[in-house]
Amino acid sequence: MVELRLPKNSRITKGNKFKIKEPCDNIKTFSIYRYDPDKNASPRIDEYEVDLSSCGPMVLDALIKIKNDIDPTLTFRRSCREGVCGSCSMNIDGTNTLACTKYIKEVKGKINIYPLPHMPVIKDLVPDLNQVYKQYTSIEPWLKTSKTSDREIKQTPNQRKELDGLYECIMCFCCSTSCPSYWWNGDKYLGPAVLLQAWRWIADSRDEATDERLDSLEDSFKLYRCHTIMNCTKTCPKGLNPAKAISKIKQKILAKS
Ligand code: SF4
Ligand code: SF4
Ligand code: FES
Repeated sequence: MVELRLPKNSRITKGNKFKIKEPCDNIKTFSIYRYDPDKNASPRIDEYEVDLSSCGPMVLDALIKIKNDIDPTLTFRRSCREGVCGSCSMNIDGTNTLACTKYIKEVKGKINIYPLPHMPVIKDLVPDLNQVYKQYTSIEPWLKTSKTSDREIKQTPNQRKELDGLYECIMCFCCSTSCPSYWWNGDKYLGPAVLLQAWRWIADSRDEATDERLDSLEDSFKLYRCHTIMNCTKTCPKGLNPAKAISKIKQKILAKS
């Protein structure tokens, strides 16, 4: 009989427990995925007790407190701490989201924190985004125009409106890493984040490379691996709709043929 088990070094093991020693009645436990590439060891789950009366309200506040006061080896990305840089994306309580905009009080009981799913992990909560950024580069995310004037290129209010719901994307990749099609075909399927960006340039009235952009996306893997499962739209912490952007690209290709 075939035994379906993960290789030994990818099984998650129990880790360390960091308990509060003084009596305290406002304790929250954070259960956090840890992986250190420099140690020849499996990933583990460490548990940290945090006194919420001396901690800010967001999950990112707790991570910073853990790093500053309890365990300086804990590694995660963050920068703006207000939902605009996209660096603190991670899986919190089973959902991909931003640690800086997720309230601790929204989660009942222990808070489980993992890196974004199905990405190679560099360390702890830091995923390797090289592949997804290569895919982003492949859609040539810049304005292509023959106009050489050094003045702005004007748009009507309606043309400008077409970019609403697109320009707000902060490239956090919560959507791509929640998409089953991206999990299984992430080397060839561009995924919702990159496709939303592709649509952002196709939808821009100032861009003159629409046909070229559509031709490069017309590929059974790059675009058509999207099966409208909608995980991407459900998880986007900025309330955007990548699934709609993908369907607009498909409609535009259809209208062209
Ligand atoms: S709608 Fe498409 S891109 Fe979004 S999760 Fe589903 S398959 Fe992935
Ligand atoms: S569409 Fe939303 S979830 Fe996806 S990368 Fe942009 S902001 Fe993040
Ligand atoms: S720290 Fe910038 S989005 Fe969370």
